[in-house]
Formats: sequence, C-alpha cells, structure tokens
Amino acid sequence: MQKIIDYLQANQSRFIEELCAYVRFPSVSAQPQHRPDLQACAEWLVSHCQALGLDASLRPTAGNPIVVAKTPRKAGVKRPHYVVYGHYDVQPPEPFDLWKSPPFEPRIVGTSLFGRGACDNKGQNLAHLKAVEAYLKTGTELPCDLTFVIEGEEEVGSKNLATFLKANRAELACDAVVISDTGMPDKKHPALTYALRGIAAFELIAHGPSRDLHSGIFGGSVDNPAMALSQLLAKLRDKKGRVTIPGFYDDVAPLSAFERKELARLPGNDKAYQKFLGVPALFGESGYTSTEQRTARPTLEINGLTSGYQGEGSKTIIPAWARAKLTLRLVANQDPKKIVKAATKYFKELCPPSIRLEVKAGHGAEPYIVSPTSPEAKAALRALKLAWDREPVMMREGGSIPIVNDFKKFLRADTLLLGLALPDDNAHSPNEKFDLECFAKGQLMGAHLWQELTK
Ligand code: BES
Ligand code: ZN
Repeated sequence: MQKIIDYLQANQSRFIEELCAYVRFPSVSAQPQHRPDLQACAEWLVSHCQALGLDASLRPTAGNPIVVAKTPRKAGVKRPHYVVYGHYDVQPPEPFDLWKSPPFEPRIVGTSLFGRGACDNKGQNLAHLKAVEAYLKTGTELPCDLTFVIEGEEEVGSKNLATFLKANRAELACDAVVISDTGMPDKKHPALTYALRGIAAFELIAHGPSRDLHSGIFGGSVDNPAMALSQLLAKLRDKKGRVTIPGFYDDVAPLSAFERKELARLPGNDKAYQKFLGVPALFGESGYTSTEQRTARPTLEINGLTSGYQGEGSKTIIPAWARAKLTLRLVANQDPKKIVKAATKYFKELCPPSIRLEVKAGHGAEPYIVSPTSPEAKAALRALKLAWDREPVMMREGGSIPIVNDFKKFLRADTLLLGLALPDDNAHSPNEKFDLECFAKGQLMGAHLWQELTK
C-alpha cells in the first residue's frame, strides 16, 4: 500500500485541478437546456477514465448517457467483482444571487472547494477513480475487478439507469456495489450508512378561473386557487408533526430499542443543530429525536410553492392557478406505489368543488436498509478506519439514492454507502462545497477498500 499512499499524496494538487475541471460542467439534469452539458461532461469522464487506463465507454440511454469504465481484466481468472456507482448530474444551482461565486466556476478557500456538484457527487466519485488510478499508475495489482457506473440522472430519479441495469445484468453482475454519495457527521467520524429513505414526488396544481381576474371586481364570488391550495396543504400535517394521509404509517417498521440507543450515540446535539440550521426552534414528529426524525421516520415536505404575482409592488388579482411541488420521504417498509395511491386519493378528497385539482405523481424510490454487520460492511469499516485513523460510526441517512434497490433487484447485490460529505457542505443549497481533506481521505479509503473486501 505504501506505493499507492505515496502516489496519492504526490498527485493531490493535480487531482484538485481535475475536480475543478469536472465541476465546471453545468450538468443540471432537471433542466432540459443543459442536455448538451451533460453529454459533454460524460464525454470528459470517458476520456478521463481512458487516460487512467480504464476500458471506458459512453452508453446511450433514452436520456443522459451512462459512463461505464472497467479495470483491465486478468485473462482466465475469475476474481471478485465490485461496481462503483456515482452520478455526474447535479441539482439546479438556483437561486444564483445567494452564491458567493458562480456555481460552475470552482473556487478554493482554505480546504473547501466551492461549486455546484463539488460534493454531490463529483468530488466523491472522483475520489474512487483516483484510488484506482493509483493502483494502475504504480503497477500495483488490484485484488478484484471493478466496474464504474457513473450516470447522469440520479437527481431526477435514475429511471434510465434502472432500464440499463435490467438489460445488462450479466455484464454488471457483482459481489457488492460501492457508493460514496452520502454524508458523515464530522471529520472525526467517518461513516458507514446502512439505511436510506425512499421518496415519492408530486406536483399539485389547483386550477381556478380560466385567467387571472381583477380581485376587486370578482373577489368574494369565486374561489382563490392560492388560498384553496394553501388550505389543502395545511391539512397534510398535524400539530404533532405527523403526516395525515390515511394509512401513511401502517407499514412503517418501528425502531428497535437497540437502534435508538445506537443513533443516540452519534455526535452532535439539538442546540448546535438548531444554530447550524438558523431556525428559531426545531420542529418534528413528537416522540422522536431529531436524528430519528430526519433519518428513520417518514415525512412530507413542500419543495416549492408558486402562484399569482411575485414581482415588484402589488397586482390585485385572483390567480388562475397555484402549484406546489411535494415530496414524501419513506422508510422501511413503506411501499411508494401504495403511498402514491393513498396520497393521490387524499389530495383529491381535500380539494373543494370550487377548484379543479391536478395531481401529477413524479419520480419515486423505495427505502433501503441493509445489515451493518455483514462481512462486506465489516471490511468497509476497516477501510474507513485505516484511511481516517478514527473509529467509524454506523448511521442512517434521510436522503435517497433511487437506484440502490434496483442494484439489489437486478444484480442481487447489496450496496456499501461510504459517504464523504460533511453536514455543512450545502448539498442542493447555494455555496455547495467539498472538503479537500475528505477528498484525499476518500481516495485512501477507496484504495484500502479493495484490499479489505478481498481479504
Ligand atoms: N447524494 C444525494 C443523496 C443523499 C445525500 C443521501 C445525503 C444521503 C445523505 C443524492 O444525490 C440525492 O440528492 N438524491 C435525491 C434523490 C431524488 C431526487 C430522487 C434526494 O435524496 O433528494
Ligand atoms: Zn443530490
């Protein structure tokens, strides 16, 4: 390992420049105008992988292409095979005015590299590529075969990757999947994540009059879609922070006493958490700690709310429509399909006859949970400890990575989630960053992982 450790250390500044080049692509999957940027970013990745000595190609899909890159195979030898998954698409950077520097012009301050996608997920998946580069460029034999699968639609639900996995089961069959696209509590606590929440997304559009109306001439005689939608939304959560959709909690697996004890041992406290979030008080489902609320309990969030006039000054209208974007986060054993059905029915029931409600169900993903004590999990914990020289923690995460259940379904493989993002990395927020120490330790962890997994 010493040769590899030296190589990683000696090349750190070049790796950082390469990460900057990667972050410069505005690969925003939610916005159709960025399709050429996603294509260009994928092409850059393919040539980057080829330069490292990987057998890399661009695999077209109905949407953005998937990058597949393989370590050189040893003829006639069957070795363990691992898939390393990542995504090169990023969240929309808006609102632009809150960025201290442009989101696609990476900027380094101290040990932070700022830019949209720096931690979610470009920096994290590049760390794994750099670990493998160290093996290949120092002539150190890898103890296993690796296939990188880096997609461009994670932030919009990974639909085309699911189709790709189904069609390429044999090529991608593997012993486990490795993903660095989650977080760690702080730099003193490297983490293995054993559960992710699932998700179900909706758009609700309340339609009122056929056009915006003068609110003085017509107000009082016709329903207001913004008001009606607000009233509907207000009924979706009760005072105790519980989601009111009938049957919503029916299948939720309760937390065991053991798990509650383990989660309570994670670093951090509510006072610091409240300050970090900048809220006057914390709020969540009563009866649960904030760690439990945000990782092990389901929720409903309004992600966006639009109606009427939002420009300078006032405009006296009754808007023709109002729209809300919602997501439900789900935990084991909730079934997104069942939840979408129950939620749609409930939204419609809550809508008054004076409004026409359009309910559009969007992307969805099942919750994920895996044993944190399997031999693979233990190997991953050893690799984390070797890289960070700290005792790792085991945790749940509140975010979702839609494809992990499809890895299980189509490749029969469990996923090791070894996240490198810090809580203040601003994933999905303005001023996203990635810590360069996490980048370097991530490379080291990647390098150790292949040894530990094959021991
Ligand atoms: N990297 C995140 C997932 C994540 C972040 C998991 C932090 C756990 C902790 C991923 O890129 C993401 O944002 N996923 C989306 C999926 C959705 C758009 C279907 C999410 O969780 O909102
Ligand atoms: Zn994300």
